[in-house]
This record gives sequence, structure tokens and C-alpha cells, in this order.
Amino acid sequence: MITRRGFTASVPALVGGPAILSACSAGADGYEAAVRRTWRLGPLQGLEGAELGEELVRYATLAPSSHNTQCWKFTVAHDAITIAPDLSRRCPVVDPDDHHLFASLGCAAENLVQAARAHGLHGEVVFDAAHDVLRVALSPTRALASPLFGALVQRQCTRGEYDAKALSNEELDLLARAGNADGVRMMLLTQRAAMEAVLEHVVRGNTAQMKDPAFVDELKAWIRFSGRDAVRHADGLYGVSSGNPDVPAWLGGLLFDWLFTPQSEADKLSKQLRSSAGIAVFVADAADKSRWVDVGRCYERFALQAAALDIRNAFINQPVEVPAVRAQLASFLGIGDRRPDLVVRFGRGARLPASLRRPVEDVLRSGEP
Ligand SMILES: Cc1cc2nc3c(=O)[nH]c(=O)nc-3n(C[C@H](O)[C@H](O)[C@H](O)COP(=O)(O)O)c2cc1C
Repeated sequence: MITRRGFTASVPALVGGPAILSACSAGADGYEAAVRRTWRLGPLQGLEGAELGEELVRYATLAPSSHNTQCWKFTVAHDAITIAPDLSRRCPVVDPDDHHLFASLGCAAENLVQAARAHGLHGEVVFDAAHDVLRVALSPTRALASPLFGALVQRQCTRGEYDAKALSNEELDLLARAGNADGVRMMLLTQRAAMEAVLEHVVRGNTAQMKDPAFVDELKAWIRFSGRDAVRHADGLYGVSSGNPDVPAWLGGLLFDWLFTPQSEADKLSKQLRSSAGIAVFVADAADKSRWVDVGRCYERFALQAAALDIRNAFINQPVEVPAVRAQLASFLGIGDRRPDLVVRFGRGARLPASLRRPVEDVLRSGEP
């Protein structure tokens, strides 16, 4: 349910939809307050030292992360912020080689760079392969609150249906400019035939994952079925953010087992993909942690640019998460032995309720990096 691969269409009808949503959302006030606290632009002036460092970390934590694990730890020094993986938040089944984990760190680094610039600091990101950490060196520059900075609090992974309308060439150009960089290519697919071919790979990957009990268990462990649980954990996949009703965890677990089937998911994925304006596939020229960080940075710039244009996006990574299907997708894309890193659909549509983040103090490590 309730997730990236949720059973959106069927649940509301079965459990009473909006009625259940309001009846069960005793935690809703708490959730709304947490959303307001989390997704806010702070002051651009008057911050310095540790206070400024923590504000930049706050923006970094607004980045997407696989299953919303928030798999990061930050260390603030006077001229740099270090981002280290929080390995206690790995997802060994869906992400055995930590590809998504390092891409998530790249997303956080990109947010940090955008926020630093708005506060008059240039951020230079370097991956330290000896220690598997990212160091963002900060030096004074002219402050610029760019549209991408403004989009930090607007961006979300929107898992609903879109309006199926094409984007303009100008919009596609802006997205392409944001999503490409040295070493990372973003392929844009907007032809219906190509999108249908990718859909086949998505469904194949999804079906393989759903037949794997370990994948399903891991996914379920990160789902927050109720607003109360979403606020208490402040991480994971809140069902309402995927268009599902707010239900107590015991009921959510039962509904998940009952309704989360390969066919229901295939139907939902087909509708979602056919409602999209296009698909972006991110492909790096090497397969190592440093490049996965770069892929995350490119994706995040793409997502921020999209949000700035009021365009939604959502991952459909199933085909890159199952090695056999990933090879088939690579062959379809004609990218030789390179790895398709991330697959994303985009288009215009309604926003969904936001996901939450843990407070900054929970992701700070003390001491010099
Ligand atoms: C590397 C990476 C992989 C992800 N893969 C998927 C995915 O396959 N399906 C999906 O629905 N969401 C995926 N997500 C999105 C996260 O679940 C999402 O960022 C998180 O729940 C927080 O929500 P938000 O981005 O709306 O703030 C991925 C995010 C990242 C960074």
C-alpha cells in the first residue's frame, strides 16, 4: 500500500475513504504542525556560525532519500559541512550495494549547495572515497536566492496521476539543463512508444520485487500507516503522502497484505505512467559511489527545477532495482554496459500531502569532520 508502490485506487473505497481519513486522523494536528515546521523557508540574514551551519543542514535534510530513510549524518565545521552515510538506515534488500543510499547523500549535498548560495556561501562538493563521506567546503560569495533555492520547500515525490499533457520545449530544455552534468547523462523520453516500453520494464521489476518476501518485509517496515506514526518516527513512507487513507498500523498491515498484489500495482503504475508527460533516466558513465553521489545531485537539480516550474515528478525505480531487469532496460536504452541509475516520471498534477523529516539535532554529529 501506501508507498511508492501503493494501492491507491482500491483502499479508499474499501475502508471508507475520506470518512476514515478524518476519523483516524487524531494525529492530524500533529502532522500538520510537523509539516509546517519542516517545510519552511527560514531567514536569509542574521545567521552565522553554528546556527547558520544547522540551518544549512536543515535544508539538506529536505532532500529525498530512498524509502525516506534519511540515511545521513552531518558534521558542521567553520568552513565545511561533512555528510556521512548513516549505515544503520541501509535498505539491504532493495539497495544491496548502497547505490540509492549514496544517491540520497548526493541529493542532500545539492540542497545544501543551493541553500548555502542563498546565504552567501559557495559550496564545493568533494567525495572522499577513502572514508565514503562527502565534504562540502564553504567559502564566501555573493548571495543568490535562486528559483531552485525557493523550490527546496516545494519539491516532493508526487506519486499521484498527472494530467497527461505534454510540456513545452522551453520547459524540457530547462529540465535537461538542470539534470545533466559531467559524467551523468539524463535521457528524456517523451514519445508514447518509448514510455510504454519503459512501463513494461517497470511492471516486470515491480512483479519480481513483490514476489520477494524480503523486499515486501523491508518495504513494510518503512511504511507509516497513520499520521501519529508518521510524526512519531518523522521518517519513512507516510501512506497519506501516496494518496492512501490514514489508518492505524494494525489495519494498515492487514490491508497491505490483502491489497498489495502484482496486478493491482501493475494497473496503478500503468495509469500513473500513462498520465505523465515523460520519463527521465539518469545514467552515469561509471558505477561507483562517487558517481552515485553525482547522479543524486543531478536528479535533485532536475527535481528542484521541476518544482520551480510547478512540474511534479516521482521515481519508478523498479527496473533499476532488479539486476536482470536493469540489464534489459540498459539494452532497450542502448547504453551498452553502463548502468541506468534512476528512472523518474514527470508531468503536471496535484500535490499530495508532504512527507516528514527528523529534527536537525537527530542528524548532527559533534566534532570536527
Ligand atoms: C535514490 C532514491 C531512490 C528512490 N526510489 C523511489 C522509488 O523507486 N519509488 C518511489 O516511489 N520513491 C522513491 N524515492 C522517493 C522517496 O521515497 C522519497 O524521496 C521520500 O519518501 C521522501 O519524500 P519526498 O521526496 O516527497 O520528500 C527514492 C528517492 C531516492 C533519493
